[in-house]
Amino acid sequence: MTSLLLTGIGELVTNDPVHDGTPIGLVRDAAVVLEGRRVAWVGPALEAPDADAAREFGGRAVVPGFVDSHSHLVFAGDRADEFAARMAGESYAAGGIRTTVAATRAATDEQLYANVARLVAEMRRQGTTTVEIKSGYGLSVLDEARSLAVARQFTPETTFLGAHVVPPEYADDPAGYVELVTGPMLEAAAPHARWIDAFCEEGAFDDDQARTVLLAGQAAGLEGRLHANQLGPGPGVRLACELELAAVDHCTHLDDADVHALADSGTVATLLPGVEFSTRSPYPDAHGLLDAGVTVALASDCNPGSCYTSSMPLCVALAVREMRMTPAEAMWSATAGGARALRRDDVGVIAPGRRAHLTVLEAPSYVHLAYRPGVPLVTEVIA
Ligand code: NIG
Ligand code: FE
Repeated sequence: MTSLLLTGIGELVTNDPVHDGTPIGLVRDAAVVLEGRRVAWVGPALEAPDADAAREFGGRAVVPGFVDSHSHLVFAGDRADEFAARMAGESYAAGGIRTTVAATRAATDEQLYANVARLVAEMRRQGTTTVEIKSGYGLSVLDEARSLAVARQFTPETTFLGAHVVPPEYADDPAGYVELVTGPMLEAAAPHARWIDAFCEEGAFDDDQARTVLLAGQAAGLEGRLHANQLGPGPGVRLACELELAAVDHCTHLDDADVHALADSGTVATLLPGVEFSTRSPYPDAHGLLDAGVTVALASDCNPGSCYTSSMPLCVALAVREMRMTPAEAMWSATAGGARALRRDDVGVIAPGRRAHLTVLEAPSYVHLAYRPGVPLVTEVIA
């Protein structure tokens, strides 16, 4: 196997505390040796071993590729009009999802594939090297299965979200829709999915329905994650902790019992600051979670309704500037935190044996991700 020395790295974020005793494991004037698709060595450039070839990074900062653990990329059309109406004073409601469901059902597989390819490429240009992709705009057996089959061509982290909202044809029979989701739809979706998810919220599914869906998915061999406490307080976060799900996402409206449940569980709280930004909502109390010892991830939630950004650097900047996370906390949550939320130990960390997923910044420090919001700092992505 040929080896490659990456050297002249002004500041390296490893997320390996061995280097400096902090969670993000900073190394200054660093080098990394890659062997094939894996990291073989990490440390100060002066101590770097020989390699077959070398590249010089001119003092730039290098960080782990972002792990975006929450996105909805399989859809057609957009909802720019809904966004404009919201900015003019309308509020966000789960019902808007049905607009995208109609457009998605009318799209061909090729059109859906092209949309995912476009957005995954956008993400990559902004430093994301691992992405989770949900279904949830098909909401029929056929349309959920083909949505997941498309997503699977881009990532192993595919999530069946048949329980996103009740589609119009089941408006009078939500119980019948839950039976469809947990029966024939799950059977058609499971071969293409790793995860099962539900939207536990007023206007979507209540906690009993979400529990039914999650348990059926787990019985079919899928692992659980949940959308909860986005639009208001509710039982979703506690349900996620009780069922020991990998992650519970949004967490915008939390009370003390929710925070305690998260702190006592292994469930990751995934915050999606782009949603608060794009729906003009109050931001969650990230520090309340961190101070309680909860593992926090940051993700984009890229979707045509509540947040149409594919940019993890934007999410980091928002987390720092609006949710008062420190740059180091946001950096960790957008990389190692996302990996925890996906139960992955091969990504999110630059250490021997891990995948060679590195994002190079046109900046001397990772802090510039928050310090220079909106500036395209990602110059290269190695993956
Ligand atoms: O995560 N909350 C539910 N689902 C998406 C929004 C979907 C949409 O508005 O189209 C979300 O925010
Ligand atoms: Fe979402």
